Amino acid sequence: MPEWLKDAVFYEIYPSSFYDSNGDGIGDIEGIIQKLDYVRELGCNALWINPCFDSPFLDGGYDIRDYKKVSSRYGTNEDLIHLFRTAHEKGIHVLLDLVPGHTSDQHPWFKRSCESTPNEYWGRYIWTSHAFEGIENHPYISGMTQRSGAYMLNFFASQPALNYGWGYRDKEWMSAPDSKEAFETREALKDIMRFWLDLGCDGYRVDMADSLVKNDDENKSATCAIWRDIRNMLDRDYPQAALVAEWSNPYQAILGAGFHMDFYLDHPHNGYNTLLRDYEHNKEDNSFFRAEGQGDIARFLDDYLPKYKASKDSGYISMFTCNHDTPRPARTLSNRELKLAYAFIFTMPGVPFLYYGDEIGMKYLDVETKEGGYHRTGSRTPMQWDKDLVNMGFSKADPKDIYLPVDPLGPSVSQQKKEFHSLWSTLRQIIFLRHKYSNLQADGDFRVLYGYKQFLVYKRGRLILALNSSNHSMKWYSSKRKLHKVYLIGECDETEDMIYLSAQSFVIFEERENYGSHN
Ligand code: GLC
Ligand code: CA
Repeated sequence: MPEWLKDAVFYEIYPSSFYDSNGDGIGDIEGIIQKLDYVRELGCNALWINPCFDSPFLDGGYDIRDYKKVSSRYGTNEDLIHLFRTAHEKGIHVLLDLVPGHTSDQHPWFKRSCESTPNEYWGRYIWTSHAFEGIENHPYISGMTQRSGAYMLNFFASQPALNYGWGYRDKEWMSAPDSKEAFETREALKDIMRFWLDLGCDGYRVDMADSLVKNDDENKSATCAIWRDIRNMLDRDYPQAALVAEWSNPYQAILGAGFHMDFYLDHPHNGYNTLLRDYEHNKEDNSFFRAEGQGDIARFLDDYLPKYKASKDSGYISMFTCNHDTPRPARTLSNRELKLAYAFIFTMPGVPFLYYGDEIGMKYLDVETKEGGYHRTGSRTPMQWDKDLVNMGFSKADPKDIYLPVDPLGPSVSQQKKEFHSLWSTLRQIIFLRHKYSNLQADGDFRVLYGYKQFLVYKRGRLILALNSSNHSMKWYSSKRKLHKVYLIGECDETEDMIYLSAQSFVIFEERENYGSHN
């Protein structure tokens, strides 16, 4: 297990929208380098950068044309290597985005596999035997190539599925997971991973990590076997490299596949979803953090606790504020609600991720779709650095030429940094507490002392944390002589044996060391 994950706090960057260093209207690698001190200032010490490789950008860069080349709109490979180096000097680790399940249909491998006569790339993708045979229960395209066959899609039409074989097979064109062609795909993936790891990258966020072997069994055993093989490579050759899965099933991703971390995604059945984005539960928004909702922490804990207990000795569950696919939390939560949500996310075990802009509560914007973003585009708008500068300081380009519009009335970093009680400052204080108390970090013990509706009291080592997200005050029994307050959002009153936590408040106590012996 990479040592540095124990106290890692990640910052996710969508490169097109972070900072434009050369005034062409689009964010770039040099822009990220220039903002590394900002990332540190906030307390983050690791980055996940969305795909920054050569691509036609029909899915925001998740349609890769050349895995080993930085997209020219972001800079050069040398720039990325320079980013690794500068980040490391500042104590920041850098994860790239690995897209193992599909390439762009413009990738040279795919072009070769479309040729009418067999060649070494014929088995790199999933193809049926002839153009008139489709693929049951899966999206496919037929009739667009010289090759007679239908090819399978992994996501959008521009993203053909790479061939890692099939678990259950009932057609002769379905490769076995241990076939020569499936083996070659896996080796090609490892080659890409090694390429950037050798140049200084610290690991990968893995896109659709569960999607490799088709018709896999219910435990995804064949897909897990591929990742186990890759984990062995890392343990042997890159023991400090880290992998985080877009999977959201710690039993499979962490215990089965050997990922160091697994995202707790906003899937409808997930407990995590009940915290920030429970828009449609009983036809209303009953997210735990909404003061006016009917939130219930039990709905989170029932899902989370078994997953946490099963996986905690093998890897980390990663909670996040948002990502490039999900609506920003500020779409439905107030600033105060966001403070509580972040207080929770960044004091939980596992490795937390902050999405750029969420630290100031950037809004979800109603904008035209861009590069296959569709509804996701609203969470991908430019970072708002300074409200007094053109394009909020994101770019010096003419406002009509920037990647996506900025929110002219929205929050900005420059303004929030100045205010002690801003969302930015609050989050920063919480992240610093996490760095200060190892109990609050990834491996720290976690126990629920009390959880009822919108009230949660939990213990992390010697720290006791209480969160009241409701619109009325809550109380619990505890001797104040035993506790010493270390952090507070909102209000908290103590009597000799009771603690009252006001509506929408959060408090951290430390247990007094000598309590007991001195009384
Ligand atoms: C993942 C990415 C998403 C992308 C898709 C296909 O879900 O997060 O942005 O569109 O995979 O690669
Ligand atoms: Ca630029």
